[in-house]
Amino acid sequence: MKEMDKKVIIITGAAMGLGLAAAQEFATRGAKQVLVDYNKEALEKAADEIRAEFPDAEIVTHVADVSKEEDVKAYVELAESSFGRIDGLYNNAGIEGRQAPLAEYNLDVFRKVVDINLMGVYFGMRHVIPVMQKQKYGRIVNVASVGGIRGVVNQTPYVATKHAVSGMTKNAAIEYGKDGILTNAIAPGAILTPMVAEAFKQVNPDNPEAAEREYSQRNPTRALGQPKDVAKLVAFLISEENGYVNGQTIAIDGGESNLYGNS
Ligand SMILES: NC(=O)c1ccc[n+]([C@@H]2O[C@H](COP(=O)([O-])OP(=O)(O)OC[C@H]3O[C@@H](n4cnc5c(N)ncnc54)[C@H](O)[C@@H]3O)[C@@H](O)[C@H]2O)c1
Repeated sequence: MKEMDKKVIIITGAAMGLGLAAAQEFATRGAKQVLVDYNKEALEKAADEIRAEFPDAEIVTHVADVSKEEDVKAYVELAESSFGRIDGLYNNAGIEGRQAPLAEYNLDVFRKVVDINLMGVYFGMRHVIPVMQKQKYGRIVNVASVGGIRGVVNQTPYVATKHAVSGMTKNAAIEYGKDGILTNAIAPGAILTPMVAEAFKQVNPDNPEAAEREYSQRNPTRALGQPKDVAKLVAFLISEENGYVNGQTIAIDGGESNLYGNS
């Protein structure tokens, strides 16, 4: 018996980065999982890796774009038909967009960031919460960002949508706490995932490693975070061990968001 072997968890954006690290963490704890991503090939590869490491893992995969409500309904239905309940939703899928000053931002990219980061998270909660209400139990973790509590130069839609994630988290917390559903957000700083590697390429296309080194030196810990660090926090918030944390946006950033002025 493992501590989460009765729990059913949905993870969006599970094919790589923070989502994949969480899927690995939940597999170590024995949870049943519905892994969702719009990148079919990467999703299957990720699921195969987990199955190879944890042969007993009960995993189903579903290719879905979280910005499409029909796709979200389908992953919720799959979770119910496969496992009969939904204990946890890790609403993680998100994109950064392209970096540009506010007044020059490409509108199509802006709308895409809103569709995925804001509407995708909303649709997830919209369709999972009624299932959790029936069970009188649920745990939701939405992924915001330090950009959900601070401004980030050249990332207006990202910052806007991540603040919205934090806001929606507060509302879900106050509206559904009475139903045994605890909803929180996490605000990662720079965690070394494919998304962040891509951001360093945009900052310094000739030498992304230099951009990474320079960035990590600004952090109080002088290091970037690892996806595993985030997975441990998410596993706590999504487990029964979390009995009373609700409506919070928890920074996991080595302390960087407390910094003002020189590092
Ligand atoms: N890595 C960081 O430092 C960091 C910091 C703050 C916040 N975040 C947030 O964490 C989350 C995960 O980021 P990551 O760094 O692991 O990114 P990543 O790009 O490495 O992985 C994101 C995954 O989400 C999937 N995805 C993207 N849009 C999707 C959609 N519409 N439908 C389904 N799947 C979709 C991608 O295919 C990919 O597998 C994002 O919401 C991101 O904004 C990351």
